[in-house]
Amino acid sequence: MSDRILRLQHVQVRVPDLELCTAYYTEVLGLVETAHEEGRVFLKCWDEHEHHSVVLRQAPTYGLDHMSFKLAEQGDLDYYAERVEQAGLVVKRYGRGELGPGWGEAIRFDAPSGHTVELVWDMEKVGNMLPLFNPPPRPGNLVGIAPPRLDHLFIMAEDVEGATRFYCDVLEFRLTEQIIANDGHQLATWMERSHSPHDLAIVTGPNGALHHFAFWLDDWNAVREAADTLAFNGVTIDVAPTRHGATRATPSTSSTRWATATSSSRAATGSIPTSSRSPGPRRRWVGRSSTTTARSTSASSRCTRDHGATAAAGVPAYRPH
Ligand SMILES: [Fe+2]
Repeated sequence: MSDRILRLQHVQVRVPDLELCTAYYTEVLGLVETAHEEGRVFLKCWDEHEHHSVVLRQAPTYGLDHMSFKLAEQGDLDYYAERVEQAGLVVKRYGRGELGPGWGEAIRFDAPSGHTVELVWDMEKVGNMLPLFNPPPRPGNLVGIAPPRLDHLFIMAEDVEGATRFYCDVLEFRLTEQIIANDGHQLATWMERSHSPHDLAIVTGPNGALHHFAFWLDDWNAVREAADTLAFNGVTIDVAPTRHGATRATPSTSSTRWATATSSSRAATGSIPTSSRSPGPRRRWVGRSSTTTARSTSASSRCTRDHGATAAAGVPAYRPH
């Protein structure tokens, strides 16, 4: 099987408080803002070369707008458009830049699991904040957790078996791990396209819902440091570090769950096109105080489609600076 779908490219999620979530993602998680427009902010991890891996969109409720997977070649757009249409779904096509800054050519469709899936080719390359000549191990100006890259997505579906069949049969994902109920049906599945333990996972739940998306950390020590950073910033950790039983996939760090080809010239100078905001006060994440550290939820709590109940309550106080 070819490697037409290479990996998860980005996720776009809805957030009721765009400024708050932007502060959380840039100051606590430590992502880099690469662009913004009315109602949307574009972010990337420091070691990613492409324009964005997380897009925050202002909306009344929390939820997942779409997930996007990276295609290897332009012809893969037609290849998957044909396969998806043969499966009976409607495919929409988008030209370069049509969907937003940095976007490549894309197709979109609504999967049987109720999620909007995008396949994209050739997003804008903006470099990874390091020079191409004699680069240091990492940039010296990182803040927060600063994961090097986005890793995987965990969604929910009423019919896990049916959803898994679609992603495997039509989009050619490979099943790596599953949880089977006593009666034999699949309760949860994990699938990959990047030869990792999983790029996409599905657990029983409402169609179209998001469970979490996860960022890569290099080792266990980085997980500990991430936990320290979350605690320092008043973000409650939902789940302690764990590992998967079959694939032994390394842990997603709890509260990173959710709030939430190089452009040679840019890469050579180690700079990326950071977003220029309009002048005026900008809110910052102010999460560590005696009144906030004991609270039980935060903007990083899990998110399900169209009811972001946990996110607002307990978000640490927020003030402009
Ligand atoms: Fe995960």
